[in-house]
Amino acid sequence: MPEHITRKIGIYGGAFNPPHSAHVLCARCAVQALELDRLIVVPSGISPHKPEPRLAASAKDRLELCKIAFGDIARAEVSDIEVQNTAGRSYTADTLRIIMEREQRRGEDLKLYLICGTDMFVTLPDWYDAEFIFKSTIIAHCARPGRTADEGAPDFPAYAKAVTVGMPQIEVSSSQLRAALAQGGGLGLMHDAVYAYIVKNRLYGVEPSLAWLRRKAYELYKPKRVLHAAGCEEEALRLCERWYGASATARDADNCAQFCREAQTAAMLHDATKKLALEEQLALCEKYGVKADEEEKRYANLLHGKTAAAIARAEFGVNERVAGAIAFHTTARADMNLLEKIMYLADYIEPTREPFDGLSELRQLAYENLDGAVYFSLCLTADDLKRRGIDIHKSTAEAIHFYS
Ligand SMILES: [Fe+2]
Ligand SMILES: [Fe+2]
Repeated sequence: MPEHITRKIGIYGGAFNPPHSAHVLCARCAVQALELDRLIVVPSGISPHKPEPRLAASAKDRLELCKIAFGDIARAEVSDIEVQNTAGRSYTADTLRIIMEREQRRGEDLKLYLICGTDMFVTLPDWYDAEFIFKSTIIAHCARPGRTADEGAPDFPAYAKAVTVGMPQIEVSSSQLRAALAQGGGLGLMHDAVYAYIVKNRLYGVEPSLAWLRRKAYELYKPKRVLHAAGCEEEALRLCERWYGASATARDADNCAQFCREAQTAAMLHDATKKLALEEQLALCEKYGVKADEEEKRYANLLHGKTAAAIARAEFGVNERVAGAIAFHTTARADMNLLEKIMYLADYIEPTREPFDGLSELRQLAYENLDGAVYFSLCLTADDLKRRGIDIHKSTAEAIHFYS
């Protein structure tokens, strides 16, 4: 007689909007405690249980976030069954039927567990086709903070089977997390790569943590260049405080604090591709569709502003103001906005700059006459290039003409 095989499959559904540490812990504990052969995580398409929150991510984004969040749990996989269902709301009973049908084709006996947190657990009897759910699965309740594991169970019909999966307490919910993300928080309550995806795609109105951005940006620098980036950020912040209120162009940003954040972000990322060779930079141009002229394509030193801007935009979700300040920090251009001038000057005069002729004069001028300082630094660049027999870039020449 062949040995009879029963496979244990856990099904873990939810909005996962976004998936956070408690979700992942619940999944991990369920796999271990129930000795699951597989755990299928099913992000909902349109959830019948929760109204769409104001700053929700799309189903496609939640699917990607789940793949990242649950990606390193052994035997876990993420299913797009509900996300692909564009016909309307997805019901757990229907999803269970699809999974059972698929799995039973393999000819093995199945033991299905429906993994759920306390919020879902206590409302289960009210779900669509609850009878089918209770008859076809064992309800596995991951006990959440402040709730007893058996709470809600008395309402279950007599034939329902339920087990408790104990998990350590983590005080986090998706709604709290969404609110925290919009306030610069949320980091540490989710997988770092989940946070990176949220920042990259600017989901949930996220205001990225500057400390996190700085750490990620510095990973792209040669160690000795990190001091320069830090110096630029410090100088840019000082220049913002000096010039924000005095400039009409600054009105693009909502307020001074927001403007400062943008300047800091530009400073952190402005030399993100500086260490790359020309071929690597040209590959980035190809990848991100960067338009570079012939001169820029010949010199990595000219190109790094544009490639860093492309990375800042594509990988860190920065807005066009920040991307522009990064893109033109090397060549400058005519009629720069305030952020671009600040980035250009901060790069020139930041505190760790090796001394050069005119530096102390330029540092003073930067706080007295902004356009004068821009013009003075452009002239210094032009003199230096002339000395070294290098042609001035077209953008730089136009800027000299504009600010003269
Ligand atoms: Fe640079
Ligand atoms: Fe720089």
